[in-house]
Amino acid sequence: MKKRTNSGLFITLEGGDGAGKSLLIARLEAELKKRSLPLLVTRNPGGTPLGERIRDLILHQKAFPVSSRCELLLFLADRAHHVETLLLPALREGRIVICDRFNDSTMAYQAAGRGLDLQQVKALSSFSAQGLSPDLTLYLDVDPAIGLKRIRKSKQNRLDLERLAFHQKVRKAYLKIALEEKERVRVLDAHLSPDEVFQQAMIWIDQLMHLFTPRCRQDEAHIKAVGC
Ligand code: TYD
Repeated sequence: MKKRTNSGLFITLEGGDGAGKSLLIARLEAELKKRSLPLLVTRNPGGTPLGERIRDLILHQKAFPVSSRCELLLFLADRAHHVETLLLPALREGRIVICDRFNDSTMAYQAAGRGLDLQQVKALSSFSAQGLSPDLTLYLDVDPAIGLKRIRKSKQNRLDLERLAFHQKVRKAYLKIALEEKERVRVLDAHLSPDEVFQQAMIWIDQLMHLFTPRCRQDEAHIKAVGC
């Protein structure tokens, strides 16, 4: 059961490596700031001082191997800290939170990609996130053969270096989640131009805002009714 994030709005972006998430997030941030909306843009792993240290350990220290279970628990240690110290407070304050990756990444990369038990990964992810689930997830779908070519060698992280078959499993897992959770997960075709992807993303976000407005109106109506 989805845990309500009360007045805030929780939007996550997901996608295979090289799908163009970073560019899309920068454009969404600019657009929502232009509308003067209270916004927090953050990322997993990372987003907090401790999270950035964990990020560096998992993604960029290539001198030593990391076992699959250890990798899972490091991603989830970051998630737990991020949710507790950054996401929940921001959502309680009524902010729109845009988070680059969340639990779906763990299901796609650690469960499907690494082959860890799906139900166990799901339970541990939910525990780490205190049951928090996004109001909307935008999944940027790209053929891994194309996505991986877009990443400059100097920018490759430990996961990018996995074989194509790994990234194909990750894509398949994302598409399965999207099929299972049609209301939450919207698939964007990341083979399209950045402009087209941005426009599609804004359609889904605006639709969510529309659903969201009545709650604000209800508050206004309540305030008027009690004469404040
Ligand atoms: P990303 O920020 O997209 O990396 P980059 O800055 O190199 O583009 O994502 C970090 C990597 O971590 C990406 O390869 C996916 C992986 N990842 C997992 O394997 N599991 C997770 O739970 C998360 C959040 C990320």
